[in-house]
Amino acid sequence: MSALHQGQWAESGEVVVEPFWGELCDTCCELPEYAHPQARPKLVTVPRGGSVTVVAMSATNVAGRANMMELADLNVGELMHNLRIRYKASPMEYYTYVGDILIVVNPMRPTPLADVEHMHAYAGTAFKDPALRPHIFAIAERAYTQLLETSAPQAVIISGESGAGKTYSTRHVLDFLAFRSRKAAAAGAADATDADPAIPRGSDSLSNLGAASEILEALGNSKTLRNHNSSRFGKFVKIYFSHTTPGVIQGAFIQTYLLEKSRIVDQDDGERNYHIFYLMLEYLDSEIRSELGLGPVESYAYLIGSTGANASSWRVQPDAAATPMEDAERWDDLLAAIGALGLDDVFADVWRVCAAILHLGNIEFEAPDHDTSSSTLCTITNPELVSHVARLLCVDEEALTKTLLTCKVVSESRSYSVDKAKANVDALAKSLYAKMFDKVVSAINDALGGGSGGLDSSRSRAWIGVLDIFGFESFQDHPDVKGVATTANTFEQLCINLTNERLQRYFYDELIPKQLEHYAAEGIDVDAIQYDDNAMAVDVLMEGKFSVLSLLDDATRTATSLPKYRADPSLGDNLWVQLVSEAHAPSKDNLKLTKRATEHDFLGWFADQLDDRASSSFCVHHFAGTVWYSARGCIDKNSDKVATDCIELMATSGTEWLAACYDTGRASAERASVARGFARQLRELVCPPAWKSAANVSGGELDAAANPLFVRCVKPICRRQPGKTHGWLEDHKVLDQLQSAGMYAVIQMRQAGYPTELDKAEFLDVYWELEEDVKVLMDLRSEDDQIHHLARLIASDPGVVLGDLRGMPPYQVGKTKVFMKGSMASAMASALRAVQDSKLTRMEAAAKHLKSLIRMSLVSSRLPELRETAAARFEYLRRKRAFIAQGLTPEQADEAIRREDEEAAAREEERYVRKHYAPLQNKVDEAQVPQLLDALHASANEEASPYYAAEIRERAAKLARVANAVQATLDAFREDVHNEGAKASAAAAVHKLRKRVKKEEVALRADADRREAEARAAAEAAHRAERFEPVVAELADVGVEAAIQLLSEFETAFAPVVEAGKIDVNALHDRRARLVRNLARAKAVFEAWSADIFSRKLEKKAAAWVKRLRVLLRREDDAMEADLVVVAKYSKVSQVRVKLDAAREAKLAKLAARREELLAAEEAKARAAAARASAAVRAEARRKRETERAARKLTRQRTRFLRKLRASATALNEAGLRVLYQNMPCEIRYRGPITFNFAKRDPSYDVRNDEMYIGLETPVGKHSYNSGAISGVKYFKCYPQHGVFVEPSKLYSIDPLAERGKPLEVGDKVWHADSRFLRTGYVLFVGMTHFSDGATLVGVRLDQDEALGNTDGTVDGLRYFDVEFARGMFFRADECYRIAPWDDSEAETIIADYCALHDIDIESESGYMSDTEVEEKLFEAEQEPAYADVDDEPQSGIVPSPSDIYQLPGSSSAAVMSAMGSTTFPQSPSEFALGSVGSETFSVGALGGIGGLNGSIDDLVLEGLGSFNSSTDDIKLNAA
Ligand SMILES: Nc1ncnc2c1ncn2[C@@H]1O[C@H](COP(=O)(O)OP(=O)(O)O)[C@@H](O)[C@H]1O
Ligand SMILES: [Mg+2]
Repeated sequence: MSALHQGQWAESGEVVVEPFWGELCDTCCELPEYAHPQARPKLVTVPRGGSVTVVAMSATNVAGRANMMELADLNVGELMHNLRIRYKASPMEYYTYVGDILIVVNPMRPTPLADVEHMHAYAGTAFKDPALRPHIFAIAERAYTQLLETSAPQAVIISGESGAGKTYSTRHVLDFLAFRSRKAAAAGAADATDADPAIPRGSDSLSNLGAASEILEALGNSKTLRNHNSSRFGKFVKIYFSHTTPGVIQGAFIQTYLLEKSRIVDQDDGERNYHIFYLMLEYLDSEIRSELGLGPVESYAYLIGSTGANASSWRVQPDAAATPMEDAERWDDLLAAIGALGLDDVFADVWRVCAAILHLGNIEFEAPDHDTSSSTLCTITNPELVSHVARLLCVDEEALTKTLLTCKVVSESRSYSVDKAKANVDALAKSLYAKMFDKVVSAINDALGGGSGGLDSSRSRAWIGVLDIFGFESFQDHPDVKGVATTANTFEQLCINLTNERLQRYFYDELIPKQLEHYAAEGIDVDAIQYDDNAMAVDVLMEGKFSVLSLLDDATRTATSLPKYRADPSLGDNLWVQLVSEAHAPSKDNLKLTKRATEHDFLGWFADQLDDRASSSFCVHHFAGTVWYSARGCIDKNSDKVATDCIELMATSGTEWLAACYDTGRASAERASVARGFARQLRELVCPPAWKSAANVSGGELDAAANPLFVRCVKPICRRQPGKTHGWLEDHKVLDQLQSAGMYAVIQMRQAGYPTELDKAEFLDVYWELEEDVKVLMDLRSEDDQIHHLARLIASDPGVVLGDLRGMPPYQVGKTKVFMKGSMASAMASALRAVQDSKLTRMEAAAKHLKSLIRMSLVSSRLPELRETAAARFEYLRRKRAFIAQGLTPEQADEAIRREDEEAAAREEERYVRKHYAPLQNKVDEAQVPQLLDALHASANEEASPYYAAEIRERAAKLARVANAVQATLDAFREDVHNEGAKASAAAAVHKLRKRVKKEEVALRADADRREAEARAAAEAAHRAERFEPVVAELADVGVEAAIQLLSEFETAFAPVVEAGKIDVNALHDRRARLVRNLARAKAVFEAWSADIFSRKLEKKAAAWVKRLRVLLRREDDAMEADLVVVAKYSKVSQVRVKLDAAREAKLAKLAARREELLAAEEAKARAAAARASAAVRAEARRKRETERAARKLTRQRTRFLRKLRASATALNEAGLRVLYQNMPCEIRYRGPITFNFAKRDPSYDVRNDEMYIGLETPVGKHSYNSGAISGVKYFKCYPQHGVFVEPSKLYSIDPLAERGKPLEVGDKVWHADSRFLRTGYVLFVGMTHFSDGATLVGVRLDQDEALGNTDGTVDGLRYFDVEFARGMFFRADECYRIAPWDDSEAETIIADYCALHDIDIESESGYMSDTEVEEKLFEAEQEPAYADVDDEPQSGIVPSPSDIYQLPGSSSAAVMSAMGSTTFPQSPSEFALGSVGSETFSVGALGGIGGLNGSIDDLVLEGLGSFNSSTDDIKLNAA
């Protein structure tokens, strides 16, 4: 068993996963998730064939990211994790960036990501646009835009192992470039007067590119076990762009590398030769085929192997489903491509050469004595094939036969042994195919306009090169001690790996300056990045005289020239190893070196010199790992030996190009060595300027490219498996590939700098908790200061070991990011973990304490109830004993008790009727409805107006109806006195009736009043007309006013007489004054009379006044007469007199006329008044009625509200009905709306807030509303600070089912409190068990997480219900309470039932109070002070005294626990509240498993930041 640490993986067996903060991923085997902050070491059993990868990661990295350089802490594990979660995501994200590198995890199935819509989406976008997901098109677009911007060549380097998707990705890049080109051409069509007609333009060259791929694939691709269409050659496609129309493709050039030749003569089981052979044999025109002498596939040794092993498998793919190969489609595409590129002639030759190769493979040699190894002359058993071949290759048949059987040594011909002859044929076949391949490639290049100038073509500097090259290969570790290696890495692997080694170096050269730029941009100080440079590995392999390849050439030269080596090829191979070891023999054992200081250190040997393999193998420490190479056959492969005779013969071929290929001059140059040719090609691809002259090349293609782009393809699985093609990722295979792709090296390079980069805000977000005193952090103004403060806490802690930092500070703060060394980052993480762990521990302790207190309170609250039950049982037993003492048997005693109880019940019933029914009936009787009805009828009869009469009759009828209905309801209630509903409706009906009766009485009185008033008004009007008016007329008739007028005028009229003193002026004035005075008094009397029209006294007085005024006037007339006599006497008496007389006459006439007028007016007025009077009386009465009604309504509403409020509060208070609030059993103290103090502010106070609230008394104190009062209105009494108002939705009603007699059902949620625990759970079983002794039991699955229960649902092996071990519990049914979220109607039923059962009469008359009473009570309540002191208030039976519960045993500060507060604190970065009791700090809040525990400790100073989550309904408590 081994322990796994982060980033490691293990295959089958048992492993211990070390504790970490992160995630343990499952991949090949189904493992549960272990991602939990509190994860402890886990023992994991990995099934055979499965594997586990431990990925420990910073909290910031758990979700995948599109660009992994953004990962906080880049390491291999994280890389792996990120790729995996992206790959498994839906939709699958198989493209990911690591910095600027694109990793492509082969999706292994068609995806829509490569369609034209995506091309549109990525065209013209910025590289790594955050709105766009990583994509191969983004890479292509980047190359394209860089090309347009800089006009410098660009390169896209795509690598990966076979089947990883390189060729697909290459095709995607090419497709995208073609798409862009087409767009650019369309845009620039107007000015497309592009010269250079030699180059095919526009769509031609674009579609030709696709055709070229098809042809190359047919010739160079094959089926392997890893990929049914595996490219067996590398290629570099250069796409040239026009100078005149920027962005338009002009042509292309393809360079190929390392075609796998061995495949032509031999393939592994299950693999195939190149596609072209099968296509040709299956689909080529039958005429041509017969001309070429071809038969079916199965007849060729080169196709099915000499043993025929692949005879059946060539038609199907290497997957388990045996999908057919897509040969038919491929053939169609090939034909189309040949046509498009105009290569029909070339292919006529291709068919011939291919046919020749197949025939060559079937030639059989025979030694005369059947001794195959002897060197005696052998013969060809099927010479007709030779003539076929000669014809196809256009060479002389005889000469061909000779070259196949003999070889020329110096000047004589020596015959081959059978083996040698076979080898010679194979060599010829391979050579032919290779030449043909090169020929086709150059023909394609001609067609593409790339020209045959090859890579040196300097026609255009504007190109994009796409390199599709095989990835690092290592088929086997070093040969093990016992077994002999079956598949060794040899010459091909060496070349491939060297290519990759070289490309990796190129990659470093490109990448490291970029990383340093990044640091510089952030303003942080990094001198140089130290990384494991692989430059020396490249040098030792290919540069200089003593490089591995040079020594191979040396060995090859020796081996081909000396006969000793020719006789035994292995000697030559060994010579090479010997030369290499002599040149590079390490002084020490370099297999275990970790630092490679010299180039020698990159090579290694098998240690045991006696072992044969020591002389034939060596290893190279590549950047991607150590690879062992076997030298076996390398000399052969390097010399690529085709017998000189063959070469000479081929040079005579009638096929021109073939003859040219074997032209002896060229051939001898090439024969130098394969290694040298390969090294030259590689240098042409990459070669830094410094090497140019040494290597004698003009500089590498890639070196010319600015900003090369890297694409790393990764294969998620090694073999296709049925049904597992999607999202299936084999971790260790992918890890291997990432290593081979150099990703480890990238990571290592980054770790040499600052591997962990965090945005400043993210850093603070994660690590703020490291500072216990948040205030200290808050006081630091700037973000940088805060970061430095937190980092210094760790960096300057002497207990923290940071290891070798290579002379760099452990962390640096850049412009936008914080950079940390790996050890610093992990020290930070573990410090954070420690802080959070200790918080958790303290929280757990606090939670435990709180829990025990709550339990204690629950138990105490149940005590009275238990006592009651005990008392009842005791009483029963006492009675039974008494009966037995009287001589009854126990059964008789039970019967007697039953009878007694029944009688008591009957009495009770009687009492109930008396108490509830009788008062109601009395009220109805008291209402005296029949009498009222009689009165109403009488009133109607009395009514003069038929309208009123009808109205009254209608009212009477209605009253009668109401009365009948009430009687019916009442009767119904009498029928069923215990029916609460009937009772309530009866009470309501009676109440309504009484209201109605009262109203009718009032209305009756009002009718009578109205009639009376009307009669009075009529009489008054009549009287006025008859008596008053004539007297008024008489008064006017007297003419007092005229006399007064005359008197006033007299003085002026007779001024001379007056002045002469003939007339006494004073007397005149006196007389006038008397008249005026008397007239006024008379008028006052008249006014009084008018107001009191029926007064006899005033009438008489008025008549007297008329009389008196007459007398006065008469007297005045006389006086006037006398005066006039004087005037006449005096002067012009007669004249004046005449004038006066006339004036008097006129006055009198005027008076008379005015009197007429007055009389008429009065008459009209009287008529109008009479009419008005009756209307006014009616309106007045109506207004009065309305005002009264409104007042009554207002009072009624308020009264009803207050009464309801009081009544239900009183009742519920008595009932002590309990509910669960935040899992505490609380008692309802009040139920109804809460009004704020409107009464004081607004006189028209009404029920404003009719939302239902529930006032609770909680067993645990300290709530924001203490003692049941809001805004001075006291709603209920309770122990100080134990009251709280809550919305019913926060409550669970507790249904005392046992008392209601309603049985529990499976699925009910129940609550059960016993002496130790508070429990809730679901009922899973109801019934009797064999131990229940007749009682009904319920089996409950407890809610609590811990195993509080005691059963798994079985008793003595009998299963009653199914539940996890120790989660089940049996309870007595009558001790369980059903709980349900508060639902008003349900709660009503429960309350009603409960009240009925406990004889609590919520709606009874006694519950009603008169309005004034209510008002008084309310006033009292408002005046009543809140409980000032605990001692003032007698303790209720249910609420335990504080000394019982709240004292913390042994606590120094007598701290009181409180919970469920609604306090809120300022928001903080995390949901913690810090607090302290005495010196102990603890925190509660929502963290980890603690959930929504709310609360604090009293006396506790809440400090710092934190929020209490007050909305959580229940407390979850951890660990008993
Ligand atoms: N981007 C891709 N989308 C869909 N399938 C792909 C993709 N890349 C690779 N494949 C699948 O993987 C197989 C191998 O891909 P190929 O490009 O031929 O690999 P390589 O060239 O690396 O050997 C393809 O035949 C195809 O089925
Ligand atoms: Mg390929």
